[in-house]
Amino acid sequence: MILRQVLMEGTKALRDAGIEGPERDARLLLAEVIGMLAARMSLEPDLKVSDAQAKEFHSFLARRVAREPVSRILGRRNFWGRDFEVTPDVLDPRPETETLIDLCLQGPQPATLLDLGCGSGIIALTLLAEMKTARGVACDISDACLAVTKRNAVSVGVLDRLDLIKSNWFSDISGEFDLIVSNPPYISDAEMTSLSLDVFNHDPHLALTPGGDGLAPYEALAKGALKHLSKGGRILVEIGYQQGPDVVRIFETAGLADVQCHKDLNGHDRVVSAHQS
Ligand SMILES: C[S@@+](CC[C@H](N)C(=O)[O-])C[C@H]1O[C@@H](n2cnc3c(N)ncnc32)[C@H](O)[C@@H]1O
Repeated sequence: MILRQVLMEGTKALRDAGIEGPERDARLLLAEVIGMLAARMSLEPDLKVSDAQAKEFHSFLARRVAREPVSRILGRRNFWGRDFEVTPDVLDPRPETETLIDLCLQGPQPATLLDLGCGSGIIALTLLAEMKTARGVACDISDACLAVTKRNAVSVGVLDRLDLIKSNWFSDISGEFDLIVSNPPYISDAEMTSLSLDVFNHDPHLALTPGGDGLAPYEALAKGALKHLSKGGRILVEIGYQQGPDVVRIFETAGLADVQCHKDLNGHDRVVSAHQS
């Protein structure tokens, strides 16, 4: 069979199974199987696909039909232009988190930064890669996440400017930082029941929800930031799109200054920022 036919069949299989964006997903999975950039595939519609490649493609399609996300099948996710390893232990990085990166890069370059709840490391490692003179600390409560962050730090080339610490939010963090960032688990118990199967079955629940109303991590982050931000330092945290007013209130009540809520590209509240008072 040739590439165009295989791709059409794969797209139809995903569409029939009710997968959103079937053509995009089929293209990414087939590109992996034949070892070609997805963007190049349109240039080679008549390329021969071997039986072995078609078989592997069908096994990938079956996993996608069972609602396994493409990044979990491929074992990596592109974020801010770089590929990051993704394992079952870490949150599948979300495009919305790029809003947090964008806002960090608009501010002054920090000498030191701290990422709390690093997961695969996308936030700390992207910032270190973009801010060439900064040093960073990435922490998580999960050893498995720290191991993935370390491997990603090697592939991004920033391990020499990174320390990895196992910590329950600020419990094992010492010193002050010019920039503190976090994308904590923020989904409430009530919202957990309405998550799609792609998310519920494949993202670690430790990364998704702190339980209750989803706001507890923001209390810990606001309290710790007051102690660990250097003078004039900034904190930026990702939030659920309905949490803006609550997180602003938590940060203001804690005594942080210049608290602001920022929107993502879809116009949803996505990041709250503040300064050390
Ligand atoms: C929403 S994920 C974010 C991962 C990554 N920063 C990203 O944006 O893709 C939240 C992360 O917080 C970690 N976490 C959960 N509770 C924590 C705690 N009490 N202290 C530190 N990290 C925690 C989870 O293991 C998970 O890696």
